[in-house]
Amino acid sequence: MKKSTGPEKTKTAVFISGKGSNLKNLIRCSRIKNYPFSVNLIISNTIKAKGLKYSNIFNIEKKIIKYDKKIKTDNKILKVLKQRKIKLICLAGFMKILSKNFIKKFNGKILNIHPSLLPKYKGLNTHFRAINNKEKFAGCSVHYVNSKLDSGKIILQRRVKISSKDNHKSLEKKVLKVEHSIYPDAIKKILN
Ligand code: GRF
Repeated sequence: MKKSTGPEKTKTAVFISGKGSNLKNLIRCSRIKNYPFSVNLIISNTIKAKGLKYSNIFNIEKKIIKYDKKIKTDNKILKVLKQRKIKLICLAGFMKILSKNFIKKFNGKILNIHPSLLPKYKGLNTHFRAINNKEKFAGCSVHYVNSKLDSGKIILQRRVKISSKDNHKSLEKKVLKVEHSIYPDAIKKILN
């Protein structure tokens, strides 16, 4: 397939704190398939994020922004985003909570992927809690970010059957695979 990084694509920043499998997948989709976004910037709150390696691998700019004083940090990030003409933010395993001010500035342009069938299981340890509660299904959701944790409008959601053999690790693996399919599709949905 032909590579397409045309100027018509929406400039996107992906925020990470961890391994970055969603980041990698978003970069791949944006480059290989006909998706309407390009990943132009990777932001992490920590140098320890394994996903930062994709900056070198895919030749994409990265910024590590330490979260000290919230307002100062917000302003720092906003400045970089403005300079790079970023129009969409995708949170992908980003472990910091964005301030109200920041969210207001990017209103309707920040997405997050969460490993549960929201509104169920907001917050952490979603798979562990779903198995403990003997749920039949787990899943993942892509949603807009508002000022309440994991509570913005849902864009796409897909469920995954929990088998009797699943533990939280195996379920995480299964759900992650589905995350990789719905995140780029959700972006497509909102941009088209
Ligand atoms: C994913 O499960 C995502 O839903 C959650 O954090 C995890 C990030 O995984 N918000 P990765 O860093 O993209 O591999």
